[in-house]
Amino acid sequence: VFYSFPESTTLCNVLTKFIAQTARETIEKKGKFTLAISGGSLPKNLSLLIERKDIEWDRWHVFYVDERVVPFDHAESNHALCQTELWSKVPIPAANIHTINEELLTAEPVDLEELADEYQSQLIEHFVSKDAARFPVFDLILLGMGPDGHTASLFPGSAQLDVDETCWVAYIEESPKPPPKRITLTLPVINHAARVAFVATGEGKQESLAITLDQPEKRYPGSRVRPARPGVVYWFVDDAASALVKY
Ligand code: 6PG
Repeated sequence: VFYSFPESTTLCNVLTKFIAQTARETIEKKGKFTLAISGGSLPKNLSLLIERKDIEWDRWHVFYVDERVVPFDHAESNHALCQTELWSKVPIPAANIHTINEELLTAEPVDLEELADEYQSQLIEHFVSKDAARFPVFDLILLGMGPDGHTASLFPGSAQLDVDETCWVAYIEESPKPPPKRITLTLPVINHAARVAFVATGEGKQESLAITLDQPEKRYPGSRVRPARPGVVYWFVDDAASALVKY
């Protein structure tokens, strides 16, 4: 499902309604809504969520699509960003915000493998034991896309794109985009989600969006996001970002 909007304000409006409605319908069916959220420019584009009165925040569970390995009070932390932009402004219980492990994060030196494994354990605990599923199935995963074609912390050509189905959280030691150390959900997890929504705005994304959508042979990470049916991929982009996409 592909939506391109002339103005990013309209995009934010429609995206917010889509998230609120998805959450409502999921909570009606399952009693809870589990979201994975990216960092970058995305959290700011969701600010209209704060004003909505129809969101049952205590039923929401939030994980991070990717996290930069910096302390939680660091300006580059995705959790800090989401906390400032969103979570501090709504009544979501702190226990429902599933961050990477703070103790492991602040250890010197940080053991990235252990940090990723611990986050994978949190996924197991949330999804596998409670829902008797073999895989984490997010109700919604919100992804951004960088001008270099990365999504989550999966960069074009990176080894983390080819992990097997048992690796749900990968770590990166030398990310092309700073900060260098990161952890990220992997394609197997993203491709098990019920819904994946990409959000990309601005001229800077033109080329990477066109390659992702029109040149799958280049194997950009976004073109490898194909949730197994009945999963659906949504694109919420603005006309500036989609200018080079062929329909
Ligand atoms: C991160 C983000 C990342 C982001 C893209 C797009 O930690 O870097 O989670 O995956 O979604 O880089 O970022 P922008 O929206 O800022 O271009």
